[in-house]
Amino acid sequence: MKEVSFIWVLLMLLRSSSSAVNPCCYYPCENSGVCVRFGPEDYKCDCTRTGFNGQNCTNPEFWTRIYLMLKPSPTVVHFILTHFKWFWDLVNKTFLRGTIMRIVLTVRNELVPTPPTYNTKYGYLSWESYQNTSYYTRLLPPVPEDCPLPMGTKGKLVLPDVIMLTERFLKRQKFRPDPQGTNLMFAFMAQHFTHQFFKTSHKSKGGFTKALGHGVDASNIYGEDLKRQHQLRLHEDGKLKYQLISGEMYPPKVSEVPVHMVYPEDLPAEQRLAIGQEMFGLLPGLSMYATIWLREHNRVCDVLKAEHPTWDDEQLFQTTRLIIIGEIINIIIEEYVQHLSGYNLKLTYDPSLLFNVRFQYTNRIALEFCHLYHWHPLMPDSFLIDGDEIPYSQFLYNTTVLVHYGVEKLVDAFSRQPAGQIGGGRNIHELVLRVAQTIITEGRSARLQPFNQYRKKFNLKPYASFSELTDDTEMAHGLEELYGDIDALEFYPGLMLEKTRPNSIFGESMVEMGAPFSLKGLFGNPINSPEYWKPSTFGGETGFSIVKTSTLKKLVCLNTKWCPYVDFHVPGKEEEAEPRKPLMEL
Ligand code: HEM
Ligand SMILES: *[C@@H]1O[C@H](CO)[C@@H](O)[C@H](O)[C@H]1NC(C)=O
Ligand SMILES: *[C@@H]1O[C@H](CO)[C@@H](O)[C@H](O)[C@H]1NC(C)=O
Ligand SMILES: *[C@@H]1O[C@H](CO)[C@@H](O)[C@H](O)[C@H]1NC(C)=O
Ligand SMILES: *[C@@H]1O[C@H](CO)[C@@H](O)[C@H](O)[C@H]1NC(C)=O
Repeated sequence: MKEVSFIWVLLMLLRSSSSAVNPCCYYPCENSGVCVRFGPEDYKCDCTRTGFNGQNCTNPEFWTRIYLMLKPSPTVVHFILTHFKWFWDLVNKTFLRGTIMRIVLTVRNELVPTPPTYNTKYGYLSWESYQNTSYYTRLLPPVPEDCPLPMGTKGKLVLPDVIMLTERFLKRQKFRPDPQGTNLMFAFMAQHFTHQFFKTSHKSKGGFTKALGHGVDASNIYGEDLKRQHQLRLHEDGKLKYQLISGEMYPPKVSEVPVHMVYPEDLPAEQRLAIGQEMFGLLPGLSMYATIWLREHNRVCDVLKAEHPTWDDEQLFQTTRLIIIGEIINIIIEEYVQHLSGYNLKLTYDPSLLFNVRFQYTNRIALEFCHLYHWHPLMPDSFLIDGDEIPYSQFLYNTTVLVHYGVEKLVDAFSRQPAGQIGGGRNIHELVLRVAQTIITEGRSARLQPFNQYRKKFNLKPYASFSELTDDTEMAHGLEELYGDIDALEFYPGLMLEKTRPNSIFGESMVEMGAPFSLKGLFGNPINSPEYWKPSTFGGETGFSIVKTSTLKKLVCLNTKWCPYVDFHVPGKEEEAEPRKPLMEL
């Protein structure tokens, strides 16, 4: 045994003396400079258009210096946007609303490279990486293969055991509700919405996606490919197939629409619903949204058909799909992102804000975006519906829940039940802890760069220590012990364990890294381009107006018998007291 380890040490010594460490493993290039290796030991940083120069792109040019002096920190900007309500109420009524929204959008968009750059295979620009859309793109190249340590040159020789890491720092001890009042209606929207563009291909490892639309394409409603779409379509008046249960519209049975869906083997055939996204039988919250969008699609088809009696099935379908995409984007920006941001600035879905600035109407989903969106702490301990407490065992893959309660009662229940706080650690229900383990493991095989490298990429100061990352001293010590160096902390654990902002759902990094990807994906949609953003695209003023005035409440209540409490946050005091408005007032 002793000799073996002696020889091993000798070999390691020989190895390190004979082959130089790849200098890019030190991440020498600051401020988004690009590291290129020359010879065995040399490198150059390409600082072109970074505003910096010098060997490591660390010397600011004159105008950069001025800009940096004037630029407020994300903390200050966030504070201003989430305080001074009187000021923002004034802004809301003036042209300043649009002006500030434009600034928010352009500042965020500048952080997302377009055309896209790297992917999991290519840490340098390549045509293959650009044109092969089966890959998720990446903002930062992978950690070079030949680095001495898993995270580059810092930290320990082996990364912490994933099971131990998640059990200790991510597993829920006691349910901690989100202080922003986020509810399950929001959580299921998050999952439903993002699973149109996050569809990781698990059979082919290496950062591939099955979602080739790379954005808001409503493939979760219509299916990823044309074959599935045609199976789901009624081929009459542009509509989608459905089944009626006690006079109400639900997605059709798989026995009638034989598309591939993921269900447990023992689930009876008549309980299998056919939906655009094959995973959406997993949760009643997802099949509820699928039902709502199905009803909305067919409702809009009727509206269009009334105005365009000569249009064929195809044109009614295609135009309705564009309207549905517009509705989704509107609701996500003006209600979902609005809620999440906590901003007092009223966000506005007005694509014309970007018509006179440099902006490209294209998007490529990033692997980092997919990782950061693993918001499983949102999930509660059990589900409270109409006086019943339903455990996970009776909730997962149980499509009977949807039909048994109906859309109204589910919306009401999900809108009233608090979701968990995402950031701050120790809030993932045991049942989904495995998903956190998977994503950390995938982050390792994809060789994602350290959390601090991503902080820098998004113009945030890298953390100097674990105690700066989190106020929980026990956690800080534990992480220090496991990782050895704050610069070796991994991407996903960093996001989840960072201290949350006061009374907020998560910390600074999740917002500063998530918002650019999110807004680029929403506004980069072709329907927001000058060529598309006009009435004719949506079948005239009626359709255009459906897009521009869509709300979550209308989405639900124009498609249900009665209008439940519906919002992305749990009811506040005023709302509890507020009488239910009749449908006519919507
Ligand atoms: C009880 C509820 C949930 C269960 C059982 C669940 C389960 C899962 C599972 C099994 C995966 C695949 C993991 C893997 O093997 O890589 C996954 C992926 C994912 N989940 Fe969840 N999840 C739930 C709720 C949510 C919610 C509320 C969100 C909110 C955004 C979410 C976001 C994601 C994302 C972004 C992925 C990656 C998808 C992909 O890359 O294809 N999940 N989840
Ligand atoms: C650039 O970075 C390398 C590696 O981190 C370091 O050794 C070198 O001193 C730096 N050069 C300058 C000019 O700061
Ligand atoms: C913002 O202004 C619009 C009209 O410009 C008004 O309808 C809306 O209620 C205002 N919202 C807030 C939160 O003040
Ligand atoms: C993308 O790359 C993968 C891996 O090299 C390959 O299998 C696949 O065929 C490529 N896809 C396209 C559309 O070229
Ligand atoms: C499915 O949900 C229904 C309605 O809540 C319930 O009666 C039934 O027991 C559940 N099925 C399973 C297998 O848990």
